Amino acid sequence: MQAKVVVIGSLNMDLVIRAPRLPRPGETLVGESFVTVPGGKGANQAVAVARLGSPVAMIGCVGDDAYGEQLRAGLLDEAIDCSGVQTVKGINSGIASILVDDHSQNAIVIVAGANGQLSPASVQALDALLLDAQVVVCQLEVPLPTVEYSLRRARELGCTVILNPAPAEAPLPAHWYALVDYLIPNESEARALTGVAVDSPGTAQIAARALCEAGVQNVIVTLGSQGVLWMGPDGVEHRPAYAVQAVDTTAAGDTLVGGFAAALARGQAPGEALRLAQAAAALSVTRQGAQPSIPMLADVERLMTP
Ligand code: RIB
Repeated sequence: MQAKVVVIGSLNMDLVIRAPRLPRPGETLVGESFVTVPGGKGANQAVAVARLGSPVAMIGCVGDDAYGEQLRAGLLDEAIDCSGVQTVKGINSGIASILVDDHSQNAIVIVAGANGQLSPASVQALDALLLDAQVVVCQLEVPLPTVEYSLRRARELGCTVILNPAPAEAPLPAHWYALVDYLIPNESEARALTGVAVDSPGTAQIAARALCEAGVQNVIVTLGSQGVLWMGPDGVEHRPAYAVQAVDTTAAGDTLVGGFAAALARGQAPGEALRLAQAAAALSVTRQGAQPSIPMLADVERLMTP
C-alpha cells in the first residue's frame, strides 16, 4: 500500500521513571517504577497516523544496537513502511530520559544519537517515498538542515506540510514559515518561537497571530487541558479539550499531530481532522508511555460519538 503520509523525524527509546514529583536541582528522589518504551516524536507521530487510519512511511535513523532493532520492529508491527529507516553503524539509537510525576507532568531530556545522522542527502535518496505522499510531517529532533530540506521538497511536490516545532528553543528561520501549511506548537514552543508567554487561549492567539503574520498558513497551538487555538485563513477558533482523567501526558502532542495528518490524508476537512486529533490526544493522556498510549481509530470514534 502506498504511504499517504510520510513522517521525517526521530526514533528514541524512552527510559521512563515515575516519581511522586520532579526533583529539584541537586536532589535525589526515590522513584516508583522504571520502564523502557518506544518513543521519539517522529516515530510516535508515525504510530499515531497508522493507528488512526492512514498508510504511513517513516524516514529516520536508528543505531546498530538492541534499541534500534526494537524501535524498527515496533513500527513494522504497526504496518508502517520502514524502508526509509536506516541503521547507522557504530552509533547508539536516540534515547529520551523521561520523568513523570503523580500529577502526570513530565520532564524530558533527549540524546540524539543516530537521529543526528539523518542528513538532507539521506532524505533526498528516499525521494520515491515523498513522491507518493499527500501529507509530510516533520519535527525538530533531527538536524535542522534536514528539516529544511524536507519542508522545501514537500512544498515543491505539493504535499500538505505539517511542522511540529518540537523541541524549540529559539525562533525558526523566517523563510521556513512559507513552507508550512500547519504549524503545531505547544505552549512552550509557541513562546520560544514568538517570545509571547503562552498559557491561555488569549495569549496563544497573540502568538498565533505573530506566526501567521510571519507567513504560516495555519497555526494550531496546543494548550493541554485548555484545548487548542487554531488560527488560519478563515479566522481564529478556540476548541476546548475533551475532559479526561490524565495519568501521563507523554506523546499527547504527537498523537494530536499524527491523528491530524491521518485524517487529512483520508480526505477529512481540517476542522473535522482537528476534532479527531483532539479526541485521540485526550485518550492518549489516560494511558502511560509514548507509543503504548496512542489509541486506535475505533476507540477515538467512540469518544467522539455523543
Ligand atoms: O513527545 C514525546 C517524545 O519526546 C518521547 O517519546 C521522547 O522520545 C521525546 O522525543
